[in-house]
Amino acid sequence: MREIIKKAAKTNNLTEEEITLLLENSSFNGELFAAADFTRKQNVGDGVHLRALIEYGNICQNNCFYCGIRAAKKDVKRYRLDTETTLKAAALAKNLGYKTIVLQSGEENAAPLNEFLQIIKEIKNMGLALTLSIGEKTYQEYLAYREVGADRFLLRIETTDENLYQTLHPGMNLQNRLRCLKDIKKLGYETGTGIMVGLPGQTAKSIAKDILFFKELDADMLGIGPFIPCPGTPLENEKGGSLETALKVMAISRLIMPKINIPATTAMEAIEKNGRIKALQSGANVIMPNVTPQNERKNYALYPGKPGILQTPEEFLNSLKQTLSQIGRFVSQDAGMSLNYRPIEK
Ligand code: 5AD
Repeated sequence: MREIIKKAAKTNNLTEEEITLLLENSSFNGELFAAADFTRKQNVGDGVHLRALIEYGNICQNNCFYCGIRAAKKDVKRYRLDTETTLKAAALAKNLGYKTIVLQSGEENAAPLNEFLQIIKEIKNMGLALTLSIGEKTYQEYLAYREVGADRFLLRIETTDENLYQTLHPGMNLQNRLRCLKDIKKLGYETGTGIMVGLPGQTAKSIAKDILFFKELDADMLGIGPFIPCPGTPLENEKGGSLETALKVMAISRLIMPKINIPATTAMEAIEKNGRIKALQSGANVIMPNVTPQNERKNYALYPGKPGILQTPEEFLNSLKQTLSQIGRFVSQDAGMSLNYRPIEK
């Protein structure tokens, strides 16, 4: 096991069998996390990039079995922020010193495109980097967002296991999701993907394949979090993932993709207080503070236990800065582009 960790740190390469072994064996977790932390420090440094998350809307046409805002969940109060409210949240983020806005929403294909393009333009005019996390779209739509200035796009693959994907995503298919990621790459977005860890039926081998997929895609960013069963969804009685395993998936990813950006995800904090800090010490270098208007946050509940619903953006930032300094880290002052990013190869 120790040899595998050493090899990963040295060569940034592992086989599917080696990753599977690491995932199945927990006696060397401490060493794995320490190695990932060292690789993080060497390659992306001690600065933590903050991305202001605006949960732009929870209207969704999909029915992903795990998700708390799936279309069939009728007790969700649906919303989409109007332009003014969205830009106000972005301005607040800018005032707090954040350099990047992430607009995230459910997948709402009927959302008015022009209004959305206008929001992108205005955020770009504020001098901020912009990440979109709004799901599967057509090439033409990805192109339109890119042409008005969107810089980055997040679309988790969720799992590369075709059967598992099919079971969890009625009416969707893995091929289209892969097509989306290819389009996003082709258009020169900094590309983010990722998975949930601990999905029912997910195996160590299947996660190993996911990790190798991240590398093959040459992702610039990776969001990895534990699956958390959500009441009122088909998976409400399932077991859910552990922080430990999610951290392992993240740490292995850091070892084989040393230069990418990896957030300490909110789901990690939701299942364990200080989960995000542990993540920052096991390979992560990004945090996504929530700047969604207070009155809508509770409606964007993908899973239960989401932290900080009542905390103001100012309060969050102050306590985060304190915690970061306690672990020898600091808030990065640059836009935090992925050091792995290469513009489109023509
Ligand atoms: N538990 C953990 N993560 C979830 N997501 C959606 N539902 C859940 C859940 N119940 C994740 C998905 C999605 C991201 C925005 O949130 O991976 O891509």
